Amino acid sequence: MKIKPIPDRLYGRIKGKKLRPRQEWLLEAFLPRTAWPEAPFGITPREIWLEVGFGGGEHAYELATRNPDIGYIAAEVFETGICSLLAKIAPDGVDAPEPLPNLRLFTGDARPLLRSFEAGALSKLFLMFPDPWPKARHAKRRFVHPDMVTEVARALREGGEWRIASDDPTYQEWTDEVMGAQDLFTVTRMTDHPEGWPHTRYEAKAIAAGRRPVYWSAIRR
Ligand SMILES: C[S@@+](CC[C@H](N)C(=O)[O-])C[C@H]1O[C@@H](n2cnc3c(N)ncnc32)[C@H](O)[C@@H]1O
Repeated sequence: MKIKPIPDRLYGRIKGKKLRPRQEWLLEAFLPRTAWPEAPFGITPREIWLEVGFGGGEHAYELATRNPDIGYIAAEVFETGICSLLAKIAPDGVDAPEPLPNLRLFTGDARPLLRSFEAGALSKLFLMFPDPWPKARHAKRRFVHPDMVTEVARALREGGEWRIASDDPTYQEWTDEVMGAQDLFTVTRMTDHPEGWPHTRYEAKAIAAGRRPVYWSAIRR
């Protein structure tokens, strides 16, 4: 398998539709209070978990609220998605919303963020339904990539877990190939939704459209 190194360039959408006043407020006034790394956690976290590309934020919000002693950093670049997670934390109609002490949003590219952690700093990394980039010439844009495997392995502690899910047949085959060619992780591949993994909006859409997601749990050796 001949694979080129990854350039840190973003290709997906960053701005969506024009923002409503409430969304503008969330980004301008509320986000700085819950943005990583500017706003530190309001707890001393037992572990740090990172989610890459949280989309609408349902997976991040559910895991962060279920695990109040975990420091959860959720990264996303798409503005509408960022507003959607902020709106879960600060719902419309709540007078004086407060950040969740253990949830922080990173509103930039997750790849340099991942490199910013010390070796072994993370206990879990979630990559739920990454942009598939199905064309072979775009393979270097995929997050699952031999260079990234090394990077994720560096950031995760021994016994830490990297969760991946994809509904795209090309990405599924690619992930099997990339994860099959490495020896830093012990990988379990599942075709049923694993218990305890929150569902995501993208996953629901994929299933409704008749696609069959695959889920991987990769444990750092
Ligand atoms: C197909 S969506 C899936 C969203 C969500 N995980 C879900 O399952 O519903 C992939 C998301 O990853 C985000 N993304 C892509 N590259 C990223 C990067 N380098 N850093 C942070 N987010 C990224 C995109 O903006 C997009 O919202």
